[in-house]
Amino acid sequence: MKASDLIALKQTALGEAAAAADAAALEAVRIKYLGRNGKLPEIMKGIGQADPGERKEIGQRANEFKTEVQALIDARREELQAGASSEAAGSFDLTLPGRWRGLGTHHPISQIIERASAIFRTIGFTVADGPDIEDEFHNFDALNTPAEHPSRDSHDTFYLADGRLLRTHTSPVQIRYMQAHRPPVRIIAPGRCYRRDTTDATHSANFHQVEGLYVDRQVSLADLKGDLGYFMRELMGQDVRIRMRPHFFPFTEPSVEVDFSCHVCGGKGCRVCKHSGWIEIAGAGMVNPKVFSAVGYAPDEVTGYAFGMGVERIAMILYGVPDIRMLYENDVRFLEQF
Ligand code: PHE
Repeated sequence: MKASDLIALKQTALGEAAAAADAAALEAVRIKYLGRNGKLPEIMKGIGQADPGERKEIGQRANEFKTEVQALIDARREELQAGASSEAAGSFDLTLPGRWRGLGTHHPISQIIERASAIFRTIGFTVADGPDIEDEFHNFDALNTPAEHPSRDSHDTFYLADGRLLRTHTSPVQIRYMQAHRPPVRIIAPGRCYRRDTTDATHSANFHQVEGLYVDRQVSLADLKGDLGYFMRELMGQDVRIRMRPHFFPFTEPSVEVDFSCHVCGGKGCRVCKHSGWIEIAGAGMVNPKVFSAVGYAPDEVTGYAFGMGVERIAMILYGVPDIRMLYENDVRFLEQF
C-alpha cells in the first residue's frame, strides 16, 4: 500500500458517498470504508508492512481519509434528511378537501319494514318477531291448517331433516305471541319467509311479510278495513282507497284479499295495475275461533283480525322495481337509488 493509493481510494469513497441516493445506501458506504471490517481499518493493520520511509505519510493520508470521508457522509446524511421531509411536505396539500366515500342507505326491503312499523306504531301496534325455523304446530296446526292441506306439501315447504321447517309465512308469530300474552293484542310482525317457489320476476324462494294481529273484545271487519286503509294512505298517498274481496284462509273466517286503488292511475287502469285499477296487497280476515282455542284464548270472549302483506310486493309497487330479483342481487348501483 502506497500513500498515493490511499488518495485514489479516498476519491472513490467520496464519490460513492456523494452519489448515495438514500440513507441506507449512505450507511453502506460508511460500513464499506470506515466500518470495523472496512477498508480503512484493514489498511491501518497493514501499515507495519509498508516501506518505513512511507509509513508516516500513509498514517497522515489515512487520517485525512477518515476525517474527509466521515465529514462528507455527515453532510450527505443531512442533505438526504432535509430532502425527504421537504418531499413529504410537497406531496401533502392540507388545503385539499377530503375524499367523499358516500353514505350507505338502508335496503329498500328494510325501508318498507321500517315505514310499516312506524305507521302502525302511530295506531298503537308494537313489533313482535319469531324464529325463521318453525315447527308444524306453529306454522300449520295451530293455524287450523289440516294435515292434507296442499301448502304443507314438501313441494311448497322446506322441511328440515328433524321435521321442523322454514316458516312459509309470518302467521306463526301470531300463535307464539298469543301463547305468551293475554288479550288485548295489537302487534305487527315483519320477517323473512320461505317457500319452494321457482324464482322469476315476481317470485322468490325467500321473501318478507308484515303480519298484523289485533285481538280484543268486539274487533270487527270494519276495524280491519279502517286500519289497513289508514296504513295504505300513509304509505302511498291520501287519495288511495282499499277494497276487500272474499277469499279463503284456514286461520281466518271470513277471509278476504285486500286491494288498493292503483296509485299510478288513480283507479282508471294502467300498466302498473294491469288495467284493473286495483292492486292486491294483503291476505286478511277475522281470526278463526279455532285459532283462539289453539292458543288458549276464549273464542266466545274475544274477536280479532289478522293480515299478512308481502314486503317485496310493496317495495316493487312503491319504487317501480320491475323484477323481484333486483332486491336480492345487491348491486350497489341499484341500491344507491333508495
Ligand atoms: N299467511 C297468509 C299468507 O301467507 C296471509 C294472511 C295472514 C292471511 C293473516 C290472513 C291473515 O298468504
